[in-house]
Amino acid sequence: MEIFAHRGSSGTHPENTLPAFMEAAALPVHGVELDVHLSKDGELVVIHDEKVNRTTNGKAYVKDLSLAELKQLDAGSWKAGEWAGTAIPTLAEVFNVFKDTPHVLNVELKTDIFPYSGAVEKVVRLAARHGMEDRLIISSFNHPDVKLAVHSHHVAGAILASNILVDMSAYAETVGTKRLHLSLPYALRHGAELIEKGCEIYVYTVNRLDYAEQLQQIGASGIFTDYPQRMLEEL
Ligand code: G3P
Ligand code: MG
Repeated sequence: MEIFAHRGSSGTHPENTLPAFMEAAALPVHGVELDVHLSKDGELVVIHDEKVNRTTNGKAYVKDLSLAELKQLDAGSWKAGEWAGTAIPTLAEVFNVFKDTPHVLNVELKTDIFPYSGAVEKVVRLAARHGMEDRLIISSFNHPDVKLAVHSHHVAGAILASNILVDMSAYAETVGTKRLHLSLPYALRHGAELIEKGCEIYVYTVNRLDYAEQLQQIGASGIFTDYPQRMLEEL
């Protein structure tokens, strides 16, 4: 079962920052997951929430700040004093961390609340510029964007889902992927039947060994964890 560092090594480092990604890049995990929004001036930036409030010392929507303004914010102190002054990274900066590693890069496009027009194209173009399109997976709760990535840009796409659908495997075919990134409760309840129907199941967010073992037993393809090193050692 593949292990992905969720938002980098986010249990031990400030999520979605270069220290968290450098930690993940030094581990023999399969890949890393990260969250992408667009700044006011259209730059791809790596942060989880629509607002900067929770993980920085600022108060605003990401979409309302320019990259220069976002770069002024401290995205480390909220986690612990030792990370003070850590900046919000651009996606290009994160790609650079992994340029000489074998890790798979799962870019979660946060286009489900704000549409961030053109975000899919920008991510694919940037990955191509870094020679990383073959180890890129674009996932999103915005499934038309997943379909766009798969059909128009020929990159791997994954359906993110926490709502339990009537016939997810048939739905996945309409999007054009077998790859499902499911919440832990969804996967524990319905993962086995979806795998039987030919889907590949990746599960977020799995920080407990007993859940990881259950998922491994039913044939899950991978997990996203905030503690990649611990999970590597224990699993
Ligand atoms: O991509 C898996 C997981 O990260 C989806 O939820 O809210 O942690 O981005 P969230
Ligand atoms: Mg995510």
